[in-house]
Amino acid sequence: MFAETHAAVFVGEGFQTMDGRPALAAALSCSLLCACAPERADSTNASAPVTASAVANGKAIFQTGKDIDGVAIRAQKPPLYPACAACHHADGSGGRRLPGSVTSADLRHAALVTHQKIPYTQALLERAISTGIDNMGQPLNPVMPHWTLSKRDLHDVANYVLMRLK
Ligand code: HEC
Repeated sequence: MFAETHAAVFVGEGFQTMDGRPALAAALSCSLLCACAPERADSTNASAPVTASAVANGKAIFQTGKDIDGVAIRAQKPPLYPACAACHHADGSGGRRLPGSVTSADLRHAALVTHQKIPYTQALLERAISTGIDNMGQPLNPVMPHWTLSKRDLHDVANYVLMRLK
């Protein structure tokens, strides 16, 4: 996205994009794109106090694939395994080899936040979990299911990953 929208260069005296479109259009499309940039896509409020039941819910979903009401989580296509921990391990360390020679990701803080150029946030995690688009805007391997969770469940499992997997 940045490569394209920021491909504005000075040509002679005028400010033009690479393909000659006026810079205004580029600036406009940038501000439009930026309006939907991940850090703004705050579907839920990450800074809201996380209650004990939200933590318990996130943990239950991650470890067992069922929320605290006992409802099994679902995905767009039937997932290969029903719980996050089955692929990512209970501690989130990942590294499990899965069919299609794909390896499950390490979901611990160092891997998702510290060592990332664009660190995962609550909103970016919610996007990855529900749509399979990663922090860089790239599609994840489809072995990672596209989960269809309620707003509460999506918030709680993303927050569990972000705050509890060390
Ligand atoms: C069937 C196995 C499987 C299950 C179940 C699964 N994942 Fe994944 N997940 C993967 C794989 C494989 C990847 C890596 C995809 C890739 O490399 O493109 C991944 C990637 C991710 C990523 C992106 C990490 C990164 O480095 O960008 C997140 C976040 C994630 N999973 C969270 C979850 C959560 C939360 C759940 C449960 C709701 C879950 N996963 C369930 C297999 C799974």
